[in-house]
Amino acid sequence: MERTTLISPAQMEQQLEYCRAVAQLSAQWPGGKPLAFVDTYGCQQNEADSERIRGYLAQMGFGFTADAEQARIIVLNTCAIREHAEQRVFGSVGALVHTKRRRPDTLICLCGCMAQRPQVAQKIRTSYRHVDLVFGPQALWKFPEMIHGLLTQRGRTFSIADEAGSIAEGIPVVRQDRIKAWVSIMYGCNNFCTYCIVPYVRGRERSRRPEDILAEVRQLAEEGYKDITLLGQNVNSYGKDLAEPMDFADLLEAVNAIPGEFLIRFMTSHPKDATQKLFAAMARCEKVAPVLHLPFQAGNDRILRAMNRRHTREQYLEKIRALKALIPDIVLTSDVIVGFPGETTEEFEDTLRVLEEVRFDALFTFLFSPRPGTPAAEMDDPMPREEKLSNFNRLTALQDTISEEKHAAYIGKTVRCLMDGHSDDARYDLTARTPGNRLVRVVGDVSALGQFRDVKITGANKWSLFGELV
Ligand code: SAH
Ligand code: SF4
Ligand code: F3S
Repeated sequence: MERTTLISPAQMEQQLEYCRAVAQLSAQWPGGKPLAFVDTYGCQQNEADSERIRGYLAQMGFGFTADAEQARIIVLNTCAIREHAEQRVFGSVGALVHTKRRRPDTLICLCGCMAQRPQVAQKIRTSYRHVDLVFGPQALWKFPEMIHGLLTQRGRTFSIADEAGSIAEGIPVVRQDRIKAWVSIMYGCNNFCTYCIVPYVRGRERSRRPEDILAEVRQLAEEGYKDITLLGQNVNSYGKDLAEPMDFADLLEAVNAIPGEFLIRFMTSHPKDATQKLFAAMARCEKVAPVLHLPFQAGNDRILRAMNRRHTREQYLEKIRALKALIPDIVLTSDVIVGFPGETTEEFEDTLRVLEEVRFDALFTFLFSPRPGTPAAEMDDPMPREEKLSNFNRLTALQDTISEEKHAAYIGKTVRCLMDGHSDDARYDLTARTPGNRLVRVVGDVSALGQFRDVKITGANKWSLFGELV
């Protein structure tokens, strides 16, 4: 396999130099410290990227605002996974035309997965002329240079070359939370599931070096972070491109050995690469949370083949059985697509049977959305939308029943939970997470925020648990 290109320390230093140059420029603007607005769509990978964009912006002398109207730089970090996600972004970008008219100095940037789609970039080029900067995920590390260019020269910038991608270490980061943190361990995807846009917009799979990952986690643990999620589109293929190959199970063990009281989570896992070795590592590592998000997408083998998932339903179920044998209280979640081209209602019912056998704690359900450029978008899709919707509703109804039953089984138990936030429901003081990442609304002293505490579960519904601090 090809070795991953690392952005050199000299190249990174140059970007930080651009940050300093922008900071000098922005210090002379009237009106005090300039503000930036960063809006994030999509998955945790995008959240993690936005924390690096904020890191760069902070180095460029910017503070942050939640109000786009106050911002001198507006960044929309976008998602292309489904058409609906893109429509939302076009709505927001369209509205910014007025902002730009009122305050022509405002820089409007569109980045992330959508920006990497040639059709989207073209549309922005011609119909959204108030957008100054468009760049894809592979160009994020050059953000300071691009901003500097916009501030010192006229014109718009499009940095959307179709790159396999590289790895940049040392990008500054401003994290959004003090308890939970994201750590990307790899970027890109090689799987080319036929419905999915990600491999086209995020480039090829590439792994960060273990020493860089471990240093980041060590620092987070020292700073008191309690919940650390290792991120990648398919973490189970971590390490295949490293000079000295290391697999994900070995990485988990190494992260687990870092001193401190914190939980380790990870996502996402691809079933074809989820091994017995991984399950054994999960069982052995006391910091690894007893939860696995293992998307199966569809329960029918013909559909799984058409999706290019490279596993059968039985292989999937076999892995779940092996995992449950090792970790009986494992919390399982999954993703499902309803209405893949050509999926009949009979084939869809195989998906229901997987739910009945596995009994997931939670399920993320999606209606198939054709993504231009992917093979599935070209496939015959004769099933009427109403029938797809009716199947979708059957799926969510079944999952709701299962989630409700699984949650009800917690009532009366005392569970050690991480107090991770203030409750937006006034009847409760805190939100918390079980080790398996179930949401708990808790009555109790808010000074427990950030601590692992015993919670007596007193109630439940299909979405969450309710309880009180012991
Ligand atoms: N890398 C992850 C998935 C990332 S995308 C994995 O392989 O599991 C998150 C979820 O979005 C996918 O699991 C899938 O269920 C859904 N999804 C992806 N493309 C989609 C599409 N074109 N239409 C509907 N749902 C889609
Ligand atoms: Fe998309 Fe499949 Fe890659 Fe997940 S594994 S990101 S679904 S192509
Ligand atoms: Fe969306 Fe890109 Fe994530 S397409 S789901 S933001 S990898």
